[in-house]
Amino acid sequence: MARAGGPSRRAALVGPAALVLAATASACAAQTAGAGTLVAYFSRSGNTRVIAGQLHRELKADLFEIAPREPYPEDYEEQVRLATRERDAGFRPALKAPAPDIAGYQTLLLCFPIWGETAPPIIRSFLAAHDLAGKTIRPIITHGGYGVGSAPAVVASHARGARVLPPFVMEADQERRTMTTVRGWMAEMQR
Ligand SMILES: Cc1cc2nc3c(=O)[nH]c(=O)nc-3n(C[C@H](O)[C@H](O)[C@H](O)COP(=O)(O)O)c2cc1C
Repeated sequence: MARAGGPSRRAALVGPAALVLAATASACAAQTAGAGTLVAYFSRSGNTRVIAGQLHRELKADLFEIAPREPYPEDYEEQVRLATRERDAGFRPALKAPAPDIAGYQTLLLCFPIWGETAPPIIRSFLAAHDLAGKTIRPIITHGGYGVGSAPAVVASHARGARVLPPFVMEADQERRTMTTVRGWMAEMQR
């Protein structure tokens, strides 16, 4: 499954998106010069992981993967159903681990995909589990073509006392689209 292992090819940063990210990265770098920056990310299929890895390397910032204590399903459809249930119930899944020494960072680059038109439940868990008062948070969001929905509002409401900057937003490939394409190819092969 894509969660383990290195960056996937999904969010290959090309053209204008790469330029925007580079501009965001340097703007962040300017804002965070001399202050500790943590890149914290959640990613299922790898798109967000690629961006987090780039920010980690180019800003020389620390990197932390946000993960649930109970691993999420590998099956995509199962994951969509679970994410919908968790979102509708306002459920906050337990974290595998909190970010170490969050007090030592002034700036948090919080990277996550959109799930069900909002931030994944584990992002609410992460925000609620850490004292972020006085810190600066820049959401870094990927989505599959339907926009960020309520995610920026969710970050703002769960990060009490933090300064939340406008998000960097990027459309990235959908796992569903990949699966549909592969299924089409498999059907062709079986003819
Ligand atoms: C459970 C689930 C729900 C999703 N819901 C949405 C959605 O509401 N809107 C959207 O544009 N994309 C949605 N997507 C697509 C992802 O946001 C998009 O592909 C993202 O780049 C995946 O990031 P990742 O590869 O880091 O996991 C969803 C994906 C999953 C797995």
